[in-house]
Amino acid sequence: VLNSQEPRLRRYFHPVLRSTDVSSGPAAGRLLGERLVAWRTNDGHVHAAIDRCPHRGAALSGGWVDDGCLVCPYHAWAYGPDGRACHIPQLDEGVPIPPKARIGVVQATERYGFVWIALDEPIGDVPDFSEITEPGWRVIPEFFETWHASAARIIDNSLDIAHTAIVHRATIGDFSKPRVHPYDVSRTVDGLSARVPVDAQGVEAQGASDNGAALRDVIVEIKGPFAFVARITYDSGAAHVIYTIATPIDDRESLFVQFVARNDAADDDSDRDTVALDRRVTLEDQRILELTDPDFPLDVTTEVHLRCDRVTVEYRRYLHELLRPVGVLGRATP
Ligand code: FES
Ligand SMILES: [Fe+2]
Repeated sequence: VLNSQEPRLRRYFHPVLRSTDVSSGPAAGRLLGERLVAWRTNDGHVHAAIDRCPHRGAALSGGWVDDGCLVCPYHAWAYGPDGRACHIPQLDEGVPIPPKARIGVVQATERYGFVWIALDEPIGDVPDFSEITEPGWRVIPEFFETWHASAARIIDNSLDIAHTAIVHRATIGDFSKPRVHPYDVSRTVDGLSARVPVDAQGVEAQGASDNGAALRDVIVEIKGPFAFVARITYDSGAAHVIYTIATPIDDRESLFVQFVARNDAADDDSDRDTVALDRRVTLEDQRILELTDPDFPLDVTTEVHLRCDRVTVEYRRYLHELLRPVGVLGRATP
């Protein structure tokens, strides 16, 4: 099973904080069981480290930033972006800074309004959501919150087609249409892709021109271990793209991150409706996910699957190859 001890998860970038969290001083975050601190230097760059001072174990996130250095709130030792102490106020004159006075820096980079952190040497870059940085696209921020569910379960749910008719019967689902139309799944350079037909209703808030239930092609993608993108294109040409990222905080908790991008003209009322609908939908998912087993089987013989589960079966195979590339269960794409 997959859990937060999986070493290769430490080598992917995960969003841990919002850019705004580090605008006025250091901020605390958590990733894969580690407590982290992130801070911004004078040049605007964000840096991150294990949130533990080597002197007496204080949390550096409770400190402050002075001239680009992270200052511990306990005895004011200051650390530079390379992790080394650059100033120790109590040090006797002429005595060098002890070489062990250094914090464990980790890789941090800022993209799409988030601070992405990789704990060990990164395997890949931050997921490519490049369309949202192109002109004509705007981003509608939605959620950045802790869920009591594992990251793999959250992303698995985003890919899961059959649950919509059941879990979302009060919002976008149609309980009378539980069957899933046939679809294909394929691998991409950075993950998985599928074009899935979805029976959805009540999605006028997203700009659907028809008001009733409709069958729509939704292109879903997985990038890296836990980034999900769903692309819906309406007859008008407007595209509605949902980005869902789950950051594994530990075995049982995840950061649930979601935002939407649209390429039509800004409309505050319709954006509010989009967020309100997605709030109801995500609460429906959260209720189910917080009661799922956080351990996520990568061996596809562990669970029971139907034909309609192809994309989530493929997600298990994909994660297995990504995280345990030499494992005996790793299989080529069918
Ligand atoms: S514990 Fe950080 S400076 Fe003493
Ligand atoms: Fe859902």
